[in-house]
Amino acid sequence: MVKKYPTVNEEYLKAVEKCKKKLRGLISEKNCAPIMLRLAWHSAGTFDVCSRTGGPFGTMRFPTELAHAANNGLDIALRLLQPIREQFPILSHADFYQLAGVVAVEVTGGPEVPFHPGRPDKAEPPVEGRLPDATKGSDHLRDVFIKQMGLSDQDIVALSGGHTLVRIFFHPDTK
Ligand code: HEM
Repeated sequence: MVKKYPTVNEEYLKAVEKCKKKLRGLISEKNCAPIMLRLAWHSAGTFDVCSRTGGPFGTMRFPTELAHAANNGLDIALRLLQPIREQFPILSHADFYQLAGVVAVEVTGGPEVPFHPGRPDKAEPPVEGRLPDATKGSDHLRDVFIKQMGLSDQDIVALSGGHTLVRIFFHPDTK
C-alpha cells in the first residue's frame, strides 16, 4: 500500500529546513534531546484510531493538555522551543513539535527519520488518560498501542527504544 502524505508549498518546505537547522543548534546546545522526543511522543501517543481523535496535531499548545499528569515537565520543552517557534509562524504547531522529535533523534546519533510536513492543528486537546501508564503491564501496553493507537507489538518494541535517550541520575550513595 502506498502511503499518501499531505502536500505543502515551497515556502513551507523552506521553513521546515531552516527550522530544522535552528532546532539542531538548540537541542545540541541545551542538551535537551530527551525532553524534545518525549514532547513529540506525548503529542502523538494520544491518538485513538477508532474515534480519530487525539494524535500529533499541535494540541500540546493548550494548557489543558500540558496539565495532564503524564505531561509533567513538558512545559520546559515548550519554553525552550518558544524562541524558535516565534520565528516560524508558517509552520503548524503539529509539524513543529514532531520536527523537534525528529531532530532530537538525529542529534543524538539516531537514524534520519523521514519527515512529512502538513499536519494540521486541531482545535481541541484529547481527553486525559490515553498515554501508557508505567505502573501497568503488557496487557495495558497492548490496549494503548494496539487497540487505541492501531499499532503492533513490533511498534511497541521499536518505539520503546526512545528510552535509550533517558538520562540516568545516580544517587550519590549508589555510585
Ligand atoms: C511504552 C510505554 C511508555 C511508558 C510507560 C513510558 C513512561 C515513561 C516515564 C514514566 C518517563 C519518566 C518521565 C519523567 O521524567 O517524569 C518516561 C520518560 C521518557 N520517555 Fe517514555 N514511556 C513510554 C514510551 C515512550 C516512547 C514510545 C518514547 C519515544 C519514542 C518515549 C520517550 C521517553 C523519553 C525520551 C523520556 C525521557 C524524557 C526526559 O528525560 O526528559 N517513551 N517515559
